[in-house]
Amino acid sequence: MNDAPIGVFDSGLGGLTVARAIIDQLPNEDIVYLGDSAHTPYGPRRLSEVRKLTLAGLDQLVQLGCKLLVIACNTATAAALRDARERYVKMGIPVIEVVTPAARGGAATTRNGSIGVLGTAATVRSGVYLDALGAVPGIRVTQSSAPKFVEFVERGETTGEAVTAAAKEYLAPLVEADVDTVILGCTHYPLLTGVLARELGPGVRLVASSEATANATYSSLVDLDLLHSPRQPGDTPKYRFYSTAPNPEFSTLARRFLGPEVSGVEPLTVELEVEGAKSARGVAATTENEERL
Ligand code: DGL
Repeated sequence: MNDAPIGVFDSGLGGLTVARAIIDQLPNEDIVYLGDSAHTPYGPRRLSEVRKLTLAGLDQLVQLGCKLLVIACNTATAAALRDARERYVKMGIPVIEVVTPAARGGAATTRNGSIGVLGTAATVRSGVYLDALGAVPGIRVTQSSAPKFVEFVERGETTGEAVTAAAKEYLAPLVEADVDTVILGCTHYPLLTGVLARELGPGVRLVASSEATANATYSSLVDLDLLHSPRQPGDTPKYRFYSTAPNPEFSTLARRFLGPEVSGVEPLTVELEVEGAKSARGVAATTENEERL
């Protein structure tokens, strides 16, 4: 079991920001990454649908022999964490998520108590960050959803007029609330740090979940005695990337976002069979009375 890979799941490319931090902190570990490109973006979908897709994706990672699962997606965490823990922990497979590390990071960073959360529509609607930060005394949370950001990142578009205009619009309520800390409540958003930092100015700190999620992964492997055994010279770690839909850009963007460690890696296509989940082009409409977890 120790030499089995870590499984990392996201709706697309955003989870690569978490995979990057895991590679940095745990350079001996093999990683299997699964991006659900066929159904990205998750943000506009119903939480019940995201839950099914997430569990189907995590099932695939378990079938690929993963020893630990990282849900590297806030929307998937908001929708499926409880069910995922129930399903996999009893199989002896720990499940790490991204919301708690980001919320803790935000609470530890703020000085004036005003925290902004940028997330997908589904994450904002789920209230998962309000719940995570609700018990912290003296904290005010202002949320804003950023529906276009995921599509920009999936296209590899991280600069330019359209990105800047969207950033101004999404950040306006946070600026209005005088936040001094903004939690990037979507694993795609760290790839937009340049424009976000520029628009917010130097007085506002950005908090991403990637480092802290990698810390949690590290601790879990140590606590459960699941670290990869020491490597012999020449025995280098394997990084495998899977996508649920053919995406010719995946390799290029993965290399751009993750760095040289992934050069030469080709995505493979696996299908998530989830009844009723339309592919990206026909995203199900959301409803106002979306269930909260
Ligand atoms: N990267 C994901 C998140 O952290 C999901 C983005 C999406 O597919 O809408 O929420």
